[in-house]
Amino acid sequence: MGASLPSSPAVVVAFLFAIAFLCLFPDVAVAKAKHAGVTRHYKFDIRLQNVTRLCHTKSLVTVNGKFPGPRIIAREGDRLVVKVVNHVPNNITIHWHGIRQLQSGWFDGPSYITQCPIQTGQSFVYNFTIVGQRGTLFWHAHISWLRATVYGPLIILPKQNASYPFLKPYKEVPIIFGEWWNVDPEAVIKQALQTGAGPNVSDAYTINGLPGPLYNCSKKDTFRLKVKPGKTYLLRLINAALNDELFFSIANHSLTVVEADAIYVKPFTTNVLVITPGQTTNVLLKTKPHDPNATFFMLARPYFTGLGTFDNSTVAGILEYDNSTSAFNKRPHFKPALPALNATSFVMNFTRKFKSLATAKFPANVPQTVQKRFFFTVGLGSNPCPKNQTCQGPNNSSKFAASINNISFILPTTALLQAHFFGKSNGIYTTDFPSVPLQPFNYTGTPPNNTVVSNGTKAIVLPFNTSVEVVLQDTSILGAESHPLHLHGFNFYVVGQGFGNFNPNKDPANFNVVDPAERNTVGVPSGGWVAIRFLADNPGVWLMHCHFDVHLSWGLRMAWIVQDGKLPNQKLPPPPADLPKC
Ligand code: C2O
Repeated sequence: MGASLPSSPAVVVAFLFAIAFLCLFPDVAVAKAKHAGVTRHYKFDIRLQNVTRLCHTKSLVTVNGKFPGPRIIAREGDRLVVKVVNHVPNNITIHWHGIRQLQSGWFDGPSYITQCPIQTGQSFVYNFTIVGQRGTLFWHAHISWLRATVYGPLIILPKQNASYPFLKPYKEVPIIFGEWWNVDPEAVIKQALQTGAGPNVSDAYTINGLPGPLYNCSKKDTFRLKVKPGKTYLLRLINAALNDELFFSIANHSLTVVEADAIYVKPFTTNVLVITPGQTTNVLLKTKPHDPNATFFMLARPYFTGLGTFDNSTVAGILEYDNSTSAFNKRPHFKPALPALNATSFVMNFTRKFKSLATAKFPANVPQTVQKRFFFTVGLGSNPCPKNQTCQGPNNSSKFAASINNISFILPTTALLQAHFFGKSNGIYTTDFPSVPLQPFNYTGTPPNNTVVSNGTKAIVLPFNTSVEVVLQDTSILGAESHPLHLHGFNFYVVGQGFGNFNPNKDPANFNVVDPAERNTVGVPSGGWVAIRFLADNPGVWLMHCHFDVHLSWGLRMAWIVQDGKLPNQKLPPPPADLPKC
């Protein structure tokens, strides 16, 4: 018969449906059935694409020419296989932010930590299974500042036949916040690192890549959420901004928070959200029972506590009821009120509302005993100006730096995970990262005169299954500031937080070890501290860092090395054959 077309009507429909599906989701190449979950194949072509915002046209590094990048959708239990091909001059890696990477640490993605970057013309296949996680996460480039344009949602649906622990929403909408630069962000950070000054700030914030009507030239680039009355929508909020925590609110609509960092939380209702870079929050939006014949702005603008400059602008999207009978311009427009830019007590109160479900089905497995305790200061500092150079950092005579326990982390020239796995740490890293500050001081009081950091590539080694507590203490050196700390490879429980200096004699008595929030990113309060606990049950090398890219570039990062356990399922397998070389 030669090449045959499907004959029965059902097969034809299925065939056409498959074609339509592939057209709608061209990034989904194949989804193959496999016992528990399925394997989902994606292809990420890293290429340059001209994009115009704010009347500036720029060539951006993108995935598949899209800005923001494509959505990845999978289910709990699925395997993701993503082939990344680099067609741009820049080196690249992709990080699957919040994915635990159980025994698949080679595919975590931070450059020079778990892998060398994918060089021009090279490719690498990320291959990992999503175990015990469902909710909203995101993926982003993890090298230099490329995540400014290389990022997208990573949505994990519950297993087939599993349901949400809340009313099934009528529709689900990802809302991903980002930043737009009229200039090349790579040039911005390069110049800043050279002069030692604080980097230039972005020109706009974006919702799903769109800046909205409050910016120049941007009316047509506005995110519009068209809704029907009397329905519940699930908004999947993601903060992919480089350097800014954001307040978010929708006029005349309250939001019910149901999930954070891909973990369900006890629902609570709020008018305003705070979301740090690296955090995700799922909220339910109940629309008005009847068409209000009005238009509602959704606004996001920064929460900022530092001393430097920041992008003090506002992104707006529009919530509209799609049956509204009057013309768009004739309808009343409502705008939400947002807290003051530095509303730290609002942020602390908001953060405290997050609680784990702590049910039989979704337990809070908080380590009840702690085997290893750490006290880390996080904050800014300085490096001396190199000879024969002028610097524009602190006092106009030094370079900005950032550190944990006064160690500013230097990226190695080869990946730490390889060095660790093959026992070749010599000359790459040392394992003497201090567990407490070497020179204690009044962390949130008058800062010391000497702000100079030490520099090094230091890690902490943890035996498999160690229960860990880390107190992260902000410092007032060069200004107290909130720091969104992100841990790779684990979720942690936020057992306590407060203002001022952590008091080891008093504060632990107030720790919540019953139903604390479980997260992958937490804001260390400006001028305060936060205590987290996690179980080191995942062998590999795991970066912990501030999710402000400017602080990350200045060295606010460190690495945990978690050793193999004894059982076969507690060991890190050997690296994949195509792991990039440095
Ligand atoms: Cu969003 Cu080191 O990552």
